[in-house]
Amino acid sequence: MARILITSAIPYINGIKHLGNLVGSQLPADLFARYMRGRGHEVMFICATDEHGTPAELAAAKAGKPVEAYCAEMHAVQAEIARGFRLSFDHFGRSSSQRNHRLTQHFAGKLAENGLIREVTEKQVYSIDDGRFLPDRYIEGTCPNCGYTSARGDQCDNCTKQLDPTDLIDPHSTISGSTNLEVRETTHLYLMQRALKDRIEAWIDSKTDWPILTTSIARKWLHDGDGLQDRGITRDLHWGIPVRKGDTPWPGMEGKVFYVWFDAPIEYIACTAEWADAHGLEDAAWQRWWRTDKGADDVTYYQFMGKDNVPFHTLSFPATLIGSGEPWKMVDYLKSFNYLNYDGGQFSTSRGRGVFMDQALSILPADYWRWWLLSHAPESSDAEFTWENFQASVNKDLADVLGNFVSRVTKFAKSKFGETVPEAGHYGPQETALIEGLDTRIRDYERLMDQMEIRKAAAELRAIWVAGNEYLQSAAPWSVVKTDPDQAQATIRLSLNLIRLYAILSRPFIPDAAWAMMEALSSDDWTWPKDVTAALGALPAGHAFAVPENLFRKITDEERAEWQQKFAGTRD
Ligand code: 2FM
Ligand code: ZN
Repeated sequence: MARILITSAIPYINGIKHLGNLVGSQLPADLFARYMRGRGHEVMFICATDEHGTPAELAAAKAGKPVEAYCAEMHAVQAEIARGFRLSFDHFGRSSSQRNHRLTQHFAGKLAENGLIREVTEKQVYSIDDGRFLPDRYIEGTCPNCGYTSARGDQCDNCTKQLDPTDLIDPHSTISGSTNLEVRETTHLYLMQRALKDRIEAWIDSKTDWPILTTSIARKWLHDGDGLQDRGITRDLHWGIPVRKGDTPWPGMEGKVFYVWFDAPIEYIACTAEWADAHGLEDAAWQRWWRTDKGADDVTYYQFMGKDNVPFHTLSFPATLIGSGEPWKMVDYLKSFNYLNYDGGQFSTSRGRGVFMDQALSILPADYWRWWLLSHAPESSDAEFTWENFQASVNKDLADVLGNFVSRVTKFAKSKFGETVPEAGHYGPQETALIEGLDTRIRDYERLMDQMEIRKAAAELRAIWVAGNEYLQSAAPWSVVKTDPDQAQATIRLSLNLIRLYAILSRPFIPDAAWAMMEALSSDDWTWPKDVTAALGALPAGHAFAVPENLFRKITDEERAEWQQKFAGTRD
């Protein structure tokens, strides 16, 4: 049994995420966690809300609430929606936790001790009308790199370049819209990433199996322009983790907080400590996942995130971990995603364009979305959600292929042989061929899941469902029963067992349907099918089953048209 640590990029607290956000980190991470658990491994799957910085402050101000209360409320909302999507986190924490405060301050202290922090008195944009500095999202303007006119002070969403507020052309305050801005001096801490460049580069070079998308983004930031830059890790904000050197105050830094991107990835670790606290466990319980001197040397660590997060996870967070000089577990495999577009354009949180997670669950159960999103995950390039494609996938893959198989087999079995697995007949060449074909396909499915080739794994799973349908079609028990009832019983015995096999294999993608299939078969044996022949004999003759409710319903053309209209824009 291996030990597998999985983290999903932690979603910002400011509002409910759309399906593009979901498929870029949390959902594929959940797929992988469920698969690894299914294979019998020990899994720690961590996610949290990212609660600091300007996104939280701005959203709280917009909602007219104190930022602490806003974050607590939105954390509960996001946790509930995550449950709705069956995201199987071992812990869904909060980056504002005391654990994260202490750990972030600890890292900053260690980095300072190791001579990797310098104080920089720099010029920052100050808004005269707002009476405050305008870090990060408090300021927007034109990107000096690509000309995008809504670039934020910390990063351009269009070209992903990390920016400083003073880089922006024609800037304005996002609080008041004011352009009455001036540049003032303020002192901040900088993490000396340049001093760590060789070590970070050597570490990235050692990751020969990482996807090109991940390494190419990392190398770009290491080498483009002047190469890896030292990075400001503090901000003139109220809401955040107060700047301290471990347990002690940091002279000159009073009233300042750490930059959200400094504390957010540290929350992966802090969240595991929150998990231990929630279960009344000692520190050793979380440290065995994160400290290589305390048992984490046999952990394999996977991160999941959208491509805009890659620079922070390949450069900044590793700089924190390496620079601490302590034996922290570093990521072994970083799976990054392109963007999911929406119906001929982009998802837009500000314009309410596209389907948001709560809305999705209000119209269809989680499995429908999970299947479409994962089988169309934006892996090698950006992908696009269209209602036509969604309707076709659900109706064909889920309803016609899987749902129909389950329904035909159980209904026919019940009507001809009663509600127990029939016992007569023997498996012949047709069954042997099916088992051989399935064996090859299941090994391929495992390989693709191990490699996190999500689209290809979904296609393989679908092919496994199709194989059952083809077998049933050709074995035709509804005709054979008239001439050779024993043979029809053998076919049905195999097919009922196949439903159980499908439940196990499909569970990472469509957990609710998998559960419904298993329940109909009165089984809770989720053992992974290492030996297909044995797995297809798990339900013995005489074992009781029931006909389940229809697993999936079809989406009608009217619904499709209505939803297309409804989600075209302007969410209230
Ligand atoms: O892009 C985002 O949504 C960020 N909140 C992700 C942070 S991931 C990590 F650093 F914790
Ligand atoms: Zn840009």
